[in-house]
Amino acid sequence: MREKILAILSERACISGEAIGQELGISRSAVWKHIKELRGKGYQIDSSPRLGYRLVKVTDLIVPEEIQRNLSTKFIGRNIIYRKEVSSTQDIASKHAINNAQEGTAIVAESQSAGKARRGRSWVSPSEGGIYVSIILRPDIRPVSAVQIPLVVGVALAKSIQKITSLKPEIKWPNDILINNKKVSGILAEISCEVDRINYILVGIGINVNTRMTELPSDVRVLATSISNECGREISRVELLRHFFTELETVYVNYLINGFSDIRQVWKRLTNTVGSKVKVIDGAQEIRGKALDIDENGFLIILTESGDTIRITGGDVSLRALE
Ligand code: BTN
Repeated sequence: MREKILAILSERACISGEAIGQELGISRSAVWKHIKELRGKGYQIDSSPRLGYRLVKVTDLIVPEEIQRNLSTKFIGRNIIYRKEVSSTQDIASKHAINNAQEGTAIVAESQSAGKARRGRSWVSPSEGGIYVSIILRPDIRPVSAVQIPLVVGVALAKSIQKITSLKPEIKWPNDILINNKKVSGILAEISCEVDRINYILVGIGINVNTRMTELPSDVRVLATSISNECGREISRVELLRHFFTELETVYVNYLINGFSDIRQVWKRLTNTVGSKVKVIDGAQEIRGKALDIDENGFLIILTESGDTIRITGGDVSLRALE
């Protein structure tokens, strides 16, 4: 209903609550309630007893009403749960996934008080400028193949950032998105499965879009950046999310139909890791060598300094050229 009210308001200079109600078959007080909610979401709507309602400014927030405007996906982002602040969008996604939320449901927040990153770390999630989103996926694949999903998502995200900024994002294995060698986005995938089937995967994506560098702690700032910091202008977060949902649906559906091999080729075109000298830290283990490839599962193949070719399934990779 709120989308319809917004459509009416954007077509007219002014319109009374009664006229909106008549058009939509709802009461004037119901219209007023929706207007109040829209104002709460950051839409600036003036009202005067003589002229009625007037839409002065569309919101800057990443609300469903804006993301879903002209969104042409079939399932990614068709159901959006929006919150101004959450502990972690992953926690909310988990509750909805357990309650059978449809595939593609997205939980979008303006800030997180306890954002989660890979390997038990935290994701700094200040308000104003970031995107924090979790998407519920239910792929009909074997649990062993689930490691490919974050790579699929990484490809979609790198392509969307490239499309709307003309910057050249790169993927550091497995799925950090870097611009000019600094991290702008991280992807966390949490899974619920039985031995032979996946119930759901929660893919959490954090993107520093217009995040001010001063909002990030100094130790994070050394390795991280934001898209706006790199391209010198503010980016529409709504537009980025819309592009990302669209790209993700295309890449993910292609993956489900054709398997990982196409995505693997695209991933290899976007990565800075393959061909580089790397250091991998996995718990107490440290491995140095040259990254040769990713295999058909998405694992990293390394030629170690002692001449062995090994397969890396997890850990933190750093590029030695940047050390
Ligand atoms: C990483 O780089 O280690 C992954 C970071 C993932 C952060 C996102 S923000 C949205 C979602 N909710 C969370 O708590 N974490 C992910």
